[in-house]
Amino acid sequence: MADVTELLDSGERLDVPELRALQLQRLRACLRHAYENVPFHRASFDRAGVRPEDCRTLADLARFPFTSKEDLRGTYPFGMFAVPRERIRRIHASSGTTGRPTIVGYTDRDLSLWADMVARSLRAAGARPGDVVHVAYGYGLFTGGLGAHYGAERLGCTVVPASGGMTARQVQLIQDLRPRIIMVTPSYMLTLLDEFERQGVDPRSTSLEVGVFGAEPWTEEMRRKIEERCGIDAVDIYGLSEVIGPGVAQECVETKDGPHIWEDHFFPEVVDPITGEVLPDGEEGELVFTSLTKEAMPVIRYRTRDVTRLLPGTARVFRRMQRITGRTDDMVILRGVNVFPTQIEEIVLRTAGVAPHFQLRLTREGRSDALTVRAEARPDAGPAVREAAARAIGVAVKDGIGVSVGVEIVEPGSLERSVGKIKRIVDLRA
Ligand code: DLL
Repeated sequence: MADVTELLDSGERLDVPELRALQLQRLRACLRHAYENVPFHRASFDRAGVRPEDCRTLADLARFPFTSKEDLRGTYPFGMFAVPRERIRRIHASSGTTGRPTIVGYTDRDLSLWADMVARSLRAAGARPGDVVHVAYGYGLFTGGLGAHYGAERLGCTVVPASGGMTARQVQLIQDLRPRIIMVTPSYMLTLLDEFERQGVDPRSTSLEVGVFGAEPWTEEMRRKIEERCGIDAVDIYGLSEVIGPGVAQECVETKDGPHIWEDHFFPEVVDPITGEVLPDGEEGELVFTSLTKEAMPVIRYRTRDVTRLLPGTARVFRRMQRITGRTDDMVILRGVNVFPTQIEEIVLRTAGVAPHFQLRLTREGRSDALTVRAEARPDAGPAVREAAARAIGVAVKDGIGVSVGVEIVEPGSLERSVGKIKRIVDLRA
């Protein structure tokens, strides 16, 4: 890998003391901006008895109140905006599965910052000006497609705005336009790989060299599977619409050791999800973000519900986050044991005879919840192999996670395929 130092932007060239000083200066300005322009934040600071001036060190941020997804819903649609509506250039919405979506807005400057952050992310992923980038994140209210799109353009790439769906045509486009980079959810990448094989094309023979995968939790096992199957580097991109969209954090291709958080613009904390207490770096908890430079919709201590830990920087000065274990809302509690779908993914993907497609069915048995793992057999797996796979998954879950689950090995191709964010849990308890 060539030295990338000369490609870094001014934010990435700061040293730690410079970075902390810049963060504090920006944080104070952001708290003031939120207090002065968003009645919700003014009222919540007042209730907590804090004023923007009370933030004298970065640690003082802990004195300020959290903002939750419910708060965003409560001010639907435009109540969190800190600028007049006429200055809002674009709207996106979060991909919440239940209730009202949460609306987010961007000024011209926010859109430019976002493009810069995705361009920075793509560069860290190994993309370079002149590359062809195939964007298979969905375009629309979801931030994935348009966020990736403008970032790739900002870096100076040629963008193919494929969006999600029409899988057979995507495979054709990849063969004809010869992209070096693909941006897509890891689950939809699996759907694309199946389609390559269905069309008789070896995925390792394509022009693709780098996959920038995110928008849903995925595991090291999944990285290994995808890299092997199509001979690319698979790296993790993280973000959420409330904070800006994709490009809040990105894994560097030279180290592949978890996403670096672009913390010159998005300040992270990890808190205990129950008490809200700030945890020291290295401890696992819920990720919380405060935007440092956003205009249209500053977020103050936004509770992401994503579980991770903060780690020291390696390839960049910024801190890293460990690959997301899961969302607190996707955590299943089985007889007192917490289970994340990613833990099951690691096991299923390691098991011989099954394809990397699985689903989790949650049912109620008497007074407790029960979980059934439904994994697809590989086309070449006969009855004995399937039976052994079911047993192996059950034993690995019991030994590794500490709970008993049911396991069903289903026919090849029978589980619904992802075209975007995959839904792992089917809740049949109601
Ligand atoms: O998913 C933004 C995005 C688009 C990120 C494309 C990366 C690529 P939302 O729809 O608001 O925004 O969903 C945000 O998705 O809180 C996480 O739970 C999950 N998520 C996003 N990236 C990752 C990742 C976009 N790399 C929610 N690993 C977040 C695990 C992720 N989970």
